[in-house]
Amino acid sequence: MVWEPLDLRHAQPCPCAESHSVFVTVVAYSERMPVFSSPVLRRAALGTAAAGAAGIGYASLIERNAFVLREATLPVLQPGSASLRVLHISDLHMTPGQRLKQAWVRELARLEPDLVVNTGDNLAHPRAVPSVVQPLTELLSRPGIFVFGSNDYFAPVPKNPLKYFDKNHKRVHGAPLPWQDLRAAFTERGWLDLTHVRRDLEVAGIKISTAGVDDPHLKRDRYDTVAGSPNPLAELSIGLTHSPEPRVLDRFATDGYDLVLAGHTHGGQLCLPGFGALVTNCGIDRSRVKGASRWGAHTRLHVSAGLGTSPWAPYRFCCRPEATLLTLVAGPPERPITDTGHGVSESEAVAR
Ligand SMILES: [Fe+2]
Repeated sequence: MVWEPLDLRHAQPCPCAESHSVFVTVVAYSERMPVFSSPVLRRAALGTAAAGAAGIGYASLIERNAFVLREATLPVLQPGSASLRVLHISDLHMTPGQRLKQAWVRELARLEPDLVVNTGDNLAHPRAVPSVVQPLTELLSRPGIFVFGSNDYFAPVPKNPLKYFDKNHKRVHGAPLPWQDLRAAFTERGWLDLTHVRRDLEVAGIKISTAGVDDPHLKRDRYDTVAGSPNPLAELSIGLTHSPEPRVLDRFATDGYDLVLAGHTHGGQLCLPGFGALVTNCGIDRSRVKGASRWGAHTRLHVSAGLGTSPWAPYRFCCRPEATLLTLVAGPPERPITDTGHGVSESEAVAR
């Protein structure tokens, strides 16, 4: 059999640019491949291609922009303490043209959280700093803490999706991003950069001891710089890391932190119904890819599925982009976690 070059001159345009090329290519191949000489097989191939194109269109055009506010209650405060509302945002991966996401993030200020936590990966474009800072303007006037991730330091680059299944694949970094400008914009408005820093703050009358590390995904974490028990005078201790790598979570747990917040996983980004995430893109197991879980006997972990994707992989399936409103309440350590993200009591509310 001789394979001839495909002639796509007569292909019809499709309104969905990303699924179009997949569908047309399969049609063209199906007309040439002998195995598709059977009308039944050819119809099956075309049906499969059409379903695939529809799935890609849904994942890239609809679910990727179907932002949702997830709510979870975590019993991490001391008995008798008033509750604390913490807004956890992560993985914005913002580009200047993403108006829908910018408008949605701007509306989060209506929640009036006591504390805002940003666990990194804000940028996906060298001119995206204003596109991150402007929607956050009102939230930046509230107490906030943050650490950065790889997509604050380096621009995204094309990546073979299959590499996510290989934990040891070689990392390729893009051009440097203006993380110093973003850091200045955050800190000038009062948010605390916890990168290898321990800071004590008081929010809504609750003394909080905090610490954070640089991104473990880039192997920049130096936990020894913040090691040690949290301030014993604090009523709550929070650790931050962009990527929830077990080596970092273990150290926070050993030091006795009450709560560790992370992002990075995108909740798996492409999930299967009834199965969940295929990969976590880090060392934690799939069951912890998003939402609340325990890490050790005392520490609670919360992983945000984040609000964005790499521009080179603009898809989400069964994994909506999210921000999380955590209500921290008093309770004994053995009190079970209630997290709507794990389906315990589904009551997700879409922020307008
Ligand atoms: Fe990310």
